[in-house]
Amino acid sequence: MRVLIIGAAGMIGAKLARRLAEDRQIAGRPITALELADLGLPVAPPGDLPCRCRALDITAEGAAEDLVSNRPDVIFHLAAMVSGAAERDFEGGYRVNVDASRALFEAIRRAHEAEGYAPRLVFASSLAVYGAPLPDPVPDDQIRTPRSSYGTQKAIVELLLDDYSRRGFFDGIGLRLPTIVIRPGAPNAAASGFFSGILREPLAGLPSTLPVSREVKHWLASPRAAVGFLVRAAGLDTAQLGPRRTMTMPGVATTVGGQIEALGRVAGAEAVALIEEVPDPQIAAMIGSWPRAFSPDRATALGFEAEGSVDELIAVYLEDDAPGWTAR
Ligand SMILES: NC(=O)c1ccc[n+]([C@@H]2O[C@H](COP(=O)([O-])OP(=O)(O)OC[C@H]3O[C@@H](n4cnc5c(N)ncnc54)[C@H](O)[C@@H]3O)[C@@H](O)[C@H]2O)c1
Repeated sequence: MRVLIIGAAGMIGAKLARRLAEDRQIAGRPITALELADLGLPVAPPGDLPCRCRALDITAEGAAEDLVSNRPDVIFHLAAMVSGAAERDFEGGYRVNVDASRALFEAIRRAHEAEGYAPRLVFASSLAVYGAPLPDPVPDDQIRTPRSSYGTQKAIVELLLDDYSRRGFFDGIGLRLPTIVIRPGAPNAAASGFFSGILREPLAGLPSTLPVSREVKHWLASPRAAVGFLVRAAGLDTAQLGPRRTMTMPGVATTVGGQIEALGRVAGAEAVALIEEVPDPQIAAMIGSWPRAFSPDRATALGFEAEGSVDELIAVYLEDDAPGWTAR
């Protein structure tokens, strides 16, 4: 089975590639080769699984055909212009998040019509398809009400995913990922970056800014859980999904204050003192329109699992991304 990851140099894509190179199988089906694509050249994961790495812009002419030219059996579509950037760059957001996704879906459809090609396609969607006013928790049958360009773009692709799957062009599954915390390395352009920053920087003894109030409540899962969701989705019997191909993934509902308390339990008051409150009305407005918690019953019934507490999210980060960390 050939596996393609689009967005493989990103935070989740790189971790997914490493996990697949270790597992060498998905739901018992052996992986014969990995293909990794991103704007920047992805790094091949350790191990001897054959791996082809390509720098490629998914918005370029012919890129979609090129991506599926080897007819991968499983495609993880993770490339995106993330929330903050898509809000600043309206045209760019639609080009990357909608037009390039549609071009990919069309390239698959043409190969389907020519030769019956119909891969599994796993799409990373977002909680941003939901915008206030919302019930708390948000149930699985809540209608999509995006209030950002990024959320609108993800909602459009969710609809395309349903229709192309209904037609049998591919076997699609979409996952609304929680905000991924703790994101290792440098922050990206997501408006939600501070949810990781207020833990990651103080854990490293560095200052961090908090742009929203401590009462803000949000839905979080670790990078390890996100990779687990994607792998599970790739191997799932999609007959269980029915016509609605995208599901909200499980997570931890917590306030920012709850995150800071957990930081204090792990790293002490000195770490907490490194967080400076610097209100940012623009970020606060965007985050304020986001959902706070979910009842992800469909995903839970299908065996998708996340952490149970912020303490666990921190423990996963220290294990996976900060080995050797000790409290100062
Ligand atoms: N991290 C989160 O909290 C979170 C939450 C919900 C959904 N998601 C979604 O999950 C996916 C992966 O997220 P991530 O955190 O790894 O993001 P990331 O920003 O680390 O990775 C995204 C990758 O997409 C690539 N990309 C962007 N434009 C491209 C283009 N034109 N051509 C080729 N590649 C391009 C980027 O270079 C980047 O490596 C995204 O679709 C994101 O919207 C992430």
